[in-house]
Amino acid sequence: MSETIPSPVDDMTEGAVRPAGQKTVFVKSYGCQMNVYDSQRMADVMGAEGYREVATPEAADLILLNTCHIREKAAEKVYSELGRMRALKEEAKAQGRQVLIGVAGCVAQAEGEEIVRRARTVDLVVGPQSYHRLPDLVARAGVTPGVVDTEFPVEDKFRHLPDAAQARTRARGISAFVTVQEGCDKFCTFCVVPYTRGAEVSRPVGQVIAEVEKLALAGVREVSLLGQNVNAYHGEGPDGTEWSLPRLLRRLAEVPGIARLRYTTSHPREMTEDLIAAHRDLPALMPYLHLPVQSGSDRVLAAMNRRHTRDDYFRIVDKVRAARSDVVLSSDFIVGFPGETDADFADTMDLIRQVGFAAAYSFKYSARPGTPAAGIEGHLPETVMTERLHALQALVTAQQRAFQDSLVGQVIDVLFEKPGRNPGQMVGRSPYLSPVQVIAPSSLAGTIAAVRIIGTQTNSLNGVLEHALHMNAVQAAE
Ligand code: 5AD
Ligand code: SF4
Repeated sequence: MSETIPSPVDDMTEGAVRPAGQKTVFVKSYGCQMNVYDSQRMADVMGAEGYREVATPEAADLILLNTCHIREKAAEKVYSELGRMRALKEEAKAQGRQVLIGVAGCVAQAEGEEIVRRARTVDLVVGPQSYHRLPDLVARAGVTPGVVDTEFPVEDKFRHLPDAAQARTRARGISAFVTVQEGCDKFCTFCVVPYTRGAEVSRPVGQVIAEVEKLALAGVREVSLLGQNVNAYHGEGPDGTEWSLPRLLRRLAEVPGIARLRYTTSHPREMTEDLIAAHRDLPALMPYLHLPVQSGSDRVLAAMNRRHTRDDYFRIVDKVRAARSDVVLSSDFIVGFPGETDADFADTMDLIRQVGFAAAYSFKYSARPGTPAAGIEGHLPETVMTERLHALQALVTAQQRAFQDSLVGQVIDVLFEKPGRNPGQMVGRSPYLSPVQVIAPSSLAGTIAAVRIIGTQTNSLNGVLEHALHMNAVQAAE
């Protein structure tokens, strides 16, 4: 996902002011949720060195861009942003202040030294496996700019980073992400992740449980487990055995205060019977499954090295729905993979019609340097890709709308998070991830209440508290 996600900062009002005498850091996150999580950890690591996180680059002594390399567009964004940052740096220099600029994330990993050559304003380049060494790199870059660290170290970065709860027990919100697995060994032929994030590594079970317990104590009620291949999780358990994702989920469901669990992103090959059974057995595991399929054509799936067929996908969906009837699905699609014919694309549209998705992320194929697919014959013209993308998105949007509409009149559980769009409203999440706007007291933050859905908007639902409805009915009867 290539959209820019602003880095969450404890107190956004502090952003514009540079506190005297204290060093400051600004982290901007691009791409996936894992980068958002990593950005927070980077701010935490620098926080331990006395840096304070600020909400704007103008207020920062250290600017870190946490980049995404998944598609060309995402990677190019970094260079245009660096142009803007250069101006800031020069302005600060004119005032006698040193500003350091760092590039982190997957572009850093993929391009390394090249970044320093192409953008001389960059003082340090740090790959996703080296964030725990950031203080040292920053110190070195302050003396000699152009420090590059994109090693895949043997030590586990998870062991060296302050965990989320430790560093930020205040104002974490109701819903939190916890990275449990990183990297990928699947080598889909279009994808850079195995090269930028490296081989699959799972965090030890004890560490994950400890982090989730601390988050729960800090008021978090919903935890989303993150991993590029999260359902391939195989962390070392306290008993020395390897734990699977379903085993971890079963254990986390017992953590007091944790009402909801989610996990993303999954690979169809790792949707084991045991994981599907967890959807049946664990009420805390939300009935929403993001399961990327990429294409509905067996020929394209083979060329992508997905190592499953469209029928495999249908079978998995059937099993998950049999285990938990209200589960909704979302997926990722790539249109215009090299050699994709009209018939292949028609297969993808057919798969979407047969499965029915509540949401989907869809992308035009983007050739990534160093990946096998970049060298395949038959790259498609941009116009064909655009046409196919529009057709696919129109279909998914219609399905999304139909799903939202099907909820009208139903009573669903909403986990309330914060003040809503209008005065007097609170916003929460449905089990299916959609935001729900409800007139409700702010005291409901962090609690789950039954809400009757009365209407839909493009990306959210409107509802009324079922309890309040009953009260009204009782009052009317009296
Ligand atoms: N081109 C287009 N989309 C891609 N994705 C990954 N690599 C590429 C690429 N080279 C998409 C896939 C993946 C999502 C995170 O990004 O759909 O699931
Ligand atoms: Fe990329 Fe495929 Fe791994 Fe997903 S499973 S991260 S698409 S290589």
